[in-house]
Amino acid sequence: MGLKSNVAKRTILLRVNREEPEIEKIRLAASIIRDGGTVAFPTETVYGLGADALNPEAVKKIFKAKMRPPDNPVIVHVSSKDEVEMLVEDFPKNALKLMEAFWPGPLTLIFKASRRVPKVTTAGLDTVAIRMPSHKVALALIRESGTPIAAPSANLSGRPSPTTAEHVLKDLDGRIDLILDAGPTEVGVESTVLNLTVDPPQVLRPGGTPYERLVEVLGEVRLHPSVTAKREVDIERPHSPGMKYRHYAPSADVVLVEGSSLDSIVRKVREVASTHAEKGRKVGILATEETISLYDSETYIIKSFGSRGEPSSLAKNLFRVLRELDDSGVDVIVAEGVSMEGLGLAVMNRLRKASGYNIVKA
Ligand code: TXA
Ligand code: MG
Repeated sequence: MGLKSNVAKRTILLRVNREEPEIEKIRLAASIIRDGGTVAFPTETVYGLGADALNPEAVKKIFKAKMRPPDNPVIVHVSSKDEVEMLVEDFPKNALKLMEAFWPGPLTLIFKASRRVPKVTTAGLDTVAIRMPSHKVALALIRESGTPIAAPSANLSGRPSPTTAEHVLKDLDGRIDLILDAGPTEVGVESTVLNLTVDPPQVLRPGGTPYERLVEVLGEVRLHPSVTAKREVDIERPHSPGMKYRHYAPSADVVLVEGSSLDSIVRKVREVASTHAEKGRKVGILATEETISLYDSETYIIKSFGSRGEPSSLAKNLFRVLRELDDSGVDVIVAEGVSMEGLGLAVMNRLRKASGYNIVKA
């Protein structure tokens, strides 16, 4: 007993059917949540690391497992729109419209928090982030747990978010109780975070729900300056505390090449890559379907993360391919910039952050 408490806990990995989650597996996971434990589970965006959002001791375990700074609040996940009421102080008129249009799905809404929400969940803020995911496993788990589930992405703080159970295992094995494995996630980037406590509403983090779709529904929506920032935005009190940390970063250095024409991007990527290779560094190139054949595959490790014509493919594969390049042992990753339209906005935001704003203009 005394010995056992000194060793890391055993993390159980449980396969579950993504379309028809096996109820006995969901019940096991839900009992861990109710007992104050931690369960990683798939959502349509990325895997989350869940705990009972209303139990401060349970939520603390999330911060500990991820090594997350305590001033970065987590998102509260619900399985129905009705659950929002007890979590919020007031309910802006836009909220209903947005929930109708985008829930369940990759949109997180920021409300004034009610007293029911523990301070550790909101990191001491008076607001709370809430979303209803569309993944069947996530919905079943929340419903069966009978409580809203607090869940940040299930990665070690600062690493690329996990889009497979293997990514979760790699970062958090021995640090959490259970992983529900339902295969790779669909969207691949996290939810869009929208602040409803300001008028007009403001996007704090671009994500799986495109900005253009929000504009269609709301008319006026602002982008927080950090969303499109080309260098770290210096904000006294960040609106979304997550903004101020280096994020989504593989261990390799990342250089991001941005430009208006594909030709000039490719030329610049070649130039940056060869400069690093000449210094004896192992270089990876994050390319796209349209460009992958244009680089010297003898010299570089080249991976495509999708097609420029289909931004959803870029979003889906981004974090996985960043991890793969990292695992191949490269010292530096030279990444191609893509269009900021649709899901491209989220992709470019993640790439800029991953590069630590090390951006080269083509
Ligand atoms: O798709 C997702 O959103 C995934 C899945 C698991 O649901 N979750 C996720 O959580 O990405 P996390 O913790 O990695 O990102 C949450 C973001 C952070 O940038 C955090 O600062 C922000 O939401 N956030 C949370 N509560 C907030 C609040 N009250 N006010 C402003 N920003 C908040
Ligand atoms: Mg995260």
